[in-house]
Amino acid sequence: MKKKIAILPGDGVGPDVIDQAQKVLDAIAERFGHQFDCCHADIGATAINKFGEPLPEYTLETCLNADAVLLGAVGHPSYDNNPKATMRPEQGLLRLRKELGIYANIRPVKTSPNLLHYSVLKEENVRGVDFVIYRELTSGIYFGGSSRSKDRKTATDICKYTTAEVERIARLAFEKASERRGKLTLVDKANVLETSRLWREVIQDLSMEYAHVAVNMLYIDNAATQILLNPQQFDVIVTPNLFGDVLSNVASLITGSIGMLPSASLGDKTPLFEPIHGSFPYATGRGIANPIAAILSVALLLEHFDLKKEAKAVRTAVTGLLRQGIATLELDPPMVCDTSQIGDILAEYIVDEDYKLRQDVVRAGVSTII
Ligand code: IPM
Ligand code: MN
Repeated sequence: MKKKIAILPGDGVGPDVIDQAQKVLDAIAERFGHQFDCCHADIGATAINKFGEPLPEYTLETCLNADAVLLGAVGHPSYDNNPKATMRPEQGLLRLRKELGIYANIRPVKTSPNLLHYSVLKEENVRGVDFVIYRELTSGIYFGGSSRSKDRKTATDICKYTTAEVERIARLAFEKASERRGKLTLVDKANVLETSRLWREVIQDLSMEYAHVAVNMLYIDNAATQILLNPQQFDVIVTPNLFGDVLSNVASLITGSIGMLPSASLGDKTPLFEPIHGSFPYATGRGIANPIAAILSVALLLEHFDLKKEAKAVRTAVTGLLRQGIATLELDPPMVCDTSQIGDILAEYIVDEDYKLRQDVVRAGVSTII
């Protein structure tokens, strides 16, 4: 298969983790005989520094002309600490999402047997967890418009949804629930927000069409607690933009760290794949960023092109590595490796099917790549 991939490393640890994702993509191409033509472009603070804007036209063009986008992260402390900044790195990502029409951000959360000890939660609470969050990505409070009063002492952010915007993501979530365990949970704040009541209406109407899917509805405050207390109860979660952003960060603690969760954003034009984490400025260039979320985003990209064996090869390599006790610092593994070593080991795993025969070499720390 031949595909054009736009690679947007972005800011902070974005380039660190995307380098590893690219090693894995190259390894897949080599082992399975595919051709991925990668084209790099700038976004975020990096783009502001070079071109004076967070999403230069050439970056948007590159993405529109590609079959998929692989993105690292955007954000920089110089903007985080300056609320008066008129241009922000995040605007680049938000505009890109809007221009690509990628309204459905899919964030899977799944634990693996033998890796439960990496979880922040008790092992018995995370065994068998397997759910997926459908976060609405191109509307809601992120896109409703903001303003300040003349005296600048009052600020407004508008949260707006149309039934059509809710319906298109809800349909995808219902379809996914039908293929899976037949359970859909809407997470909202319908006891307070009118937009959430609109979400409830649309979901209730659609549930007639998907009679075999069991629907339940939780308020976001309750859902944030439930996701840590009893995450096994969830199958597919569908939720507005901001709630999905927060809830998925919380959910990442189930697998061990925010450095573990990938995402796929699908919609009208080019699909985009990115880790759910941010730019983690402190870790930039220090070799401590976990590249697994970016690497598992490659698995989602491969799956999107129906390359099932290839996606499985990536996941098998990742679980194999973690089971051997190799991981980045934040997971507190028996053997700490840096960001780039993780990429090298996984790429070697993927290219060389017999690699597992030499696991004891890796475990002893005598492999040339450690
Ligand atoms: C994410 C990020 C972004 C978001 C930021 C960087 C704008 O936190 O992808 O989850 O809030 O959507
Ligand atoms: Mn986020």
